Amino acid sequence: MDALPYLGLGLTANLDGQAPPDPWALHRARPGLFDFVEYSAPLELDPALWEGRGGLPLLFHPVHLNLWGPELEAPGALALLDAQAREVGSPWVGNDVGWWHARGEPIPGFLYVAPPLDARGLSDAVAHARHVQAHLSVPLVLENPAVIAVRGKMHVLDFMAELAARTSAPLLLDLGHLFSHQLARGLPLTAGFDGFPFERVVELHLAGGVVTRPGGRGVYVDDHTQALREELFELLAAVLPRCTQLRALTFEGDGHPEAMAARTLERLRPLAPAPGPSPAAPPVATERARGDGVGPFTAVSEPERVFAESWGRARCEEDPEGAAAEVDFRLAVLAQTLDRALPVSRLLLAGAREPLAAFARSDEFIGCFSPGATRSVVRAFCAWGRGQLRGRRDPAAEAALALESAGDHARLEEPRFCARALRRHLSGRAWATGQLELDALEGLRQVVERAVR
Ligand SMILES: [Fe+2]
Repeated sequence: MDALPYLGLGLTANLDGQAPPDPWALHRARPGLFDFVEYSAPLELDPALWEGRGGLPLLFHPVHLNLWGPELEAPGALALLDAQAREVGSPWVGNDVGWWHARGEPIPGFLYVAPPLDARGLSDAVAHARHVQAHLSVPLVLENPAVIAVRGKMHVLDFMAELAARTSAPLLLDLGHLFSHQLARGLPLTAGFDGFPFERVVELHLAGGVVTRPGGRGVYVDDHTQALREELFELLAAVLPRCTQLRALTFEGDGHPEAMAARTLERLRPLAPAPGPSPAAPPVATERARGDGVGPFTAVSEPERVFAESWGRARCEEDPEGAAAEVDFRLAVLAQTLDRALPVSRLLLAGAREPLAAFARSDEFIGCFSPGATRSVVRAFCAWGRGQLRGRRDPAAEAALALESAGDHARLEEPRFCARALRRHLSGRAWATGQLELDALEGLRQVVERAVR
């Protein structure tokens, strides 16, 4: 850990350039505003995305990397991860402790499933982290997960402290995720600090989020595209003096226009460590560990149980209110995911909450994340939709599903326009009425029937 360089103040980006901010453009316009870019990408480096991205140090935050879940990452995938980290010169690889994907199929919205905060969740997270580190030539840095439903009795900081002790890994403390945990348990902002090894924290994350209070219970949703909450700055002030080995302060500003990102970075600049090489700079390890000490991997049914609870397929006895809030958020993200590929069929087959929730509970959906699964969520929805339409007369939904699942978008040009316009209109109206008036989908049915007539 002593060998890690000081990166300073960072801003996040997705390499595909689809959403703001563009850190490279911001760096050209405001040199010195921040010092490095933290980016998320698949484990295999795409040279096309990579071209022209020079000029700032890079830190790789894979998000496609499982640090909990029913299966350990395949060695081939970890070899790609290591190759990418070396290629871009990432001095470490940080990732949230959670189950992110099943054989490459990301859990919708990258809303990973966090481990239960108990001895079993801990021992499985240890096995994952040791396995990943054994295949990496740079340090794996472990990030505390976001929490909505609370499972297990441990405080998340105690869980991370134990995980660090058993893996020797440095830590990344995400302040929004910590806030989510404190809210979920009804704890003060700085509860659980005693005994936490702040000196192992090499990186801090701040990001936007949304707090709601269903039934009086606080729920923090880790939506980076939102503005930052003031509680995060309070937490930052509380942890900074304790993080004596801090190398990087990162603003996860995904979705923030450059001018907004710049304001936040200006506020963070005086608080960030100064960039520079490591004071100790021992030789870089070139021999990889061989996975010694990886204990028997026991997680088979536990992640699947938590996954089923997270999507409303099973009841969460430990925290039913938290689980209900989590299901609500996951369904909203699932709808967005499906709308990108199947905007007409999704509205006609699962426009209302109950059918959408029924899909999330279905064998077709859950099967995408079972060991050995190969089907995508979009294909699972098509299969589920065909099952729903059996024995029911709904020619518009049948036609839309047939065309969208075949990728025939030309004939659906007007229905896709209509679906977009209706989503915008009905959500705007719901702000005034408090109700989503889904009977208006009848208009979409008319347009589909016209298009295929
Ligand atoms: Fe984070």
